[in-house]
Amino acid sequence: MIFSTLILNQDTPIYEQIENHIEKAVKAGALIKDSKLPSTREASSVLRISRNTVLTAYENLESRGIIYSIKGKGSFVKEEAKNDWQEVNIKWKQRINSYGQTCEQMDIIKTEPHYEKGMISFKSIAPEGNLFDVEEFKRAFLDVMALEGEKLLNYGYAKGYRGLIEYLMNYMEGKGVGGSKKDILITNGFTEGLDLILSTYTQPGDVIVCESPTHHTTLKMMKAYGLQVVGVPMDEQGILPEELEATIIKHRPKWVYLTPSYQNPTGIVMSGERRRMVYGILSDYHTPCIEDGFNEELLYSSSHIMPLMALTGESNHIIYIGSLSKILFPGLRLGWIMADSACIDTLESVKRAKTIHTSFVDQAVFVQYMKSGAFERYVKKAKKYYREKYLYTVEQIKEYIPYEKLWGEGGLHIFIELNHKIDTRELLKQCYRRGVLFMPGDIFEPSMKVTSSLRIGFARLKKEEISKGLKIIGEEISKNIIP
Ligand SMILES: Cc1ncc(COP(=O)(O)O)c(C=O)c1O
Repeated sequence: MIFSTLILNQDTPIYEQIENHIEKAVKAGALIKDSKLPSTREASSVLRISRNTVLTAYENLESRGIIYSIKGKGSFVKEEAKNDWQEVNIKWKQRINSYGQTCEQMDIIKTEPHYEKGMISFKSIAPEGNLFDVEEFKRAFLDVMALEGEKLLNYGYAKGYRGLIEYLMNYMEGKGVGGSKKDILITNGFTEGLDLILSTYTQPGDVIVCESPTHHTTLKMMKAYGLQVVGVPMDEQGILPEELEATIIKHRPKWVYLTPSYQNPTGIVMSGERRRMVYGILSDYHTPCIEDGFNEELLYSSSHIMPLMALTGESNHIIYIGSLSKILFPGLRLGWIMADSACIDTLESVKRAKTIHTSFVDQAVFVQYMKSGAFERYVKKAKKYYREKYLYTVEQIKEYIPYEKLWGEGGLHIFIELNHKIDTRELLKQCYRRGVLFMPGDIFEPSMKVTSSLRIGFARLKKEEISKGLKIIGEEISKNIIP
């Protein structure tokens, strides 16, 4: 309270001392505009003086325009504090470290042409929200809150919600991955999982090998951490083994990053035979590998292929990162790292240092949702929906786009390599003028070089939009072809 620092003296009238004290506090900013002063009764009792003395002080302050009073409510500060501080204008953009600079330079949400209402955008590979089973999810939320709401709303554990870890252990066993030495850490999606690994196990200048082209966000993060990214080309069966081996021999990378199923952007599913060859190379050269399993469930045509991690047995050089962002709800930001328990033990501490833990409410609701059987129903529905869209998009590409190669047998996107050397970055500018957007291939290139490729995300577009958009892209391509 404002009067606890006021020591009254005998030399000056008391009302004047109260006036000065309040005026000083207002000018120093200790009493801010519109803040309430103690009532005259309170002040007189704290200072052991008569109420009338306080009243006189308040009346004088009011007549001098320092305070105002509202009948029945009290007295309030009227004046703004007058500070003589210097104005400070930090040039924030000039203070960014190299990590921040790379994140900003490679932030395609800011740098790529923006969607405007009415446009047809093939940019996104987010799932179709209308397929989400919102009612079932609401039920799961209410159920877990009734059961353990008090616990869930409190701090949880960095490693994750036990029910979810157990659920995912079983889930991974279903994919052929298990073993007593493996453990799981829950993360905020794939992206945080990768960040935890890169921040823990790499130094600037280290080499990391990946498929070329590859996931843009991964490229951005690897570059932001100052890593040297070396891309290895692919064919229809996945990364080329001879090239991978040669690259490992030449660069001795710290890590290899691979997405064996529905690779982004190509959609390639690495064949079983290729997986064994790649695994053999990683083992021969004792090279740790981050396996990105983000999209595994969305296969349309052939049967499921086991992750690389299923080949490990007692070995521990593969780290698997799973995510629910494509098969279920990206907004939940749930993912996991499965790895050797010594690795998870360290990553748990890093996770605690960075974000403490992933939301326990989200984790618990998700487990409840999965146990309700809704997931199986949803996957069936989603696969049927996306397969139809995928087949339609392929048909329309064949109709309108002169392509050399069409990649992708699952997931929510198709990758096209044009049969003419057309810079798709330039093509995008032309299409943008006609209201059509797509992802040009250069954003997926470790070297960022210009390409004749583009990625088409189809999940959230209507059939008419797919057809109309592809027709426009086809027309713009033909303008670039010199006969
Ligand atoms: C290759 C790849 N991995 C992982 C993810 C998912 O990331 P997150 O779980 O952080 O949403 C995506 C999303 O597009 C992706 O393309």
